[in-house]
Amino acid sequence: MAEPILQVKDVVKHYPLTRGIIFKKEIGQVRAVDGVSFDLFPGETLGIVGESGCGKSTLARLIMRLEDPTAGQIWFEGEDMASLGAKAMRAKRRDIQIVLQDPYTSLNPRMTVGDIIGEPFDIHPSVIPKGDRKRAVQDLLDVVGLNPEHISRYPHQFSGGQRQRIGIARGLALRPKIIVCDEPVSALDVSVQAQVINLFEQLQDEFNLTYIFIAHDLSVVRHISDRVGVMYLGKIVEVGDEASIYEHPTHPYTQALLSAVPVPDPVGRDDRRRIVLQGDVPSPANPPSGCRFRTRCWKAQDICTQQEPPLIQIGTAGGQYSACHFPQERDIVNNDVPTGALDLSDMPKE
Ligand SMILES: Nc1ncnc2c1ncn2[C@@H]1O[C@H](COP(=O)(O)OP(=O)(O)OP(=O)(O)O)[C@@H](O)[C@H]1O
Ligand SMILES: [Mg+2]
Repeated sequence: MAEPILQVKDVVKHYPLTRGIIFKKEIGQVRAVDGVSFDLFPGETLGIVGESGCGKSTLARLIMRLEDPTAGQIWFEGEDMASLGAKAMRAKRRDIQIVLQDPYTSLNPRMTVGDIIGEPFDIHPSVIPKGDRKRAVQDLLDVVGLNPEHISRYPHQFSGGQRQRIGIARGLALRPKIIVCDEPVSALDVSVQAQVINLFEQLQDEFNLTYIFIAHDLSVVRHISDRVGVMYLGKIVEVGDEASIYEHPTHPYTQALLSAVPVPDPVGRDDRRRIVLQGDVPSPANPPSGCRFRTRCWKAQDICTQQEPPLIQIGTAGGQYSACHFPQERDIVNNDVPTGALDLSDMPKE
């Protein structure tokens, strides 16, 4: 197996929770990311899903090194990023870029498209000689499917999908190895989403990119991801290849998330019952003891209050891990072909 390009090792980010405006008093900690580990392999797309506030964007900022983790390490190409000196860090930073959600606020309205896409060259002047910049920007416009002649236009002269393409072109300018995509299509119309997703896939093949793809929409994540990690309250509760997660989710939270996704085949609809989770997501400033999901879980027993379940491997096929004391077994028939239907007999019904 290939060496991982990125290793996230037990990464934690706590933010101080303060009260008062002038004399800020710390009254607690928000555990935005609370012990996340995973490996990312070259050329793959790792999808990250989870409800609002579970720590997805915080994780993205930590990987981008826009913030330092409270604890844990992030290794890129076999080196601990925190151990790098300023110069080496600057060089490595080029290799990991981000594409953000909102094409309406993430582009400076006073800058031309050429300046926006070319800005990374100002920050890393050695990448392209000054005289070649205009051509480089025009190449980038072409690569993302925009008209290179529109280099002097301003962001408001483009549609939402086109603006997201501008953001992608900017992310590509320094020829990164990894692109962290934080809800890159969530603000777009469904038809435009498909086009932008296709562009991401095409660019991945063309430039050998590795993606971390964060999204709310589970069908979008399934479409683009090779593996998927499910986050709940600052932790990854289940991770595995896309088929395992979507066809054999073993963590109750994954099952609940998926049960809310419409099944395209109306005949297959009967196989999935909708699970309605009780209550709200608890505050990340005061997460439940033991398993964080236990307050909303229909399987919870005493052990779930007392002990935090570690991520353990599920099944023999490898690649799927679940952090639950009572994970749903994968149902595998004799010839190793998954049976498809989930056993949801012990779940609460709508
Ligand atoms: N700079 C900060 N200071 C204090 N708390 C923060 C900060 N950034 C994030 N948080 C808190 O950390 C938690 C995780 O936030 P984060 O933005 O990472 O979630 P998310 O999964 O990206 O949510 P969404 O799906 O809404 O984008 C939230 O409770 C949030 O309020
Ligand atoms: Mg977010």
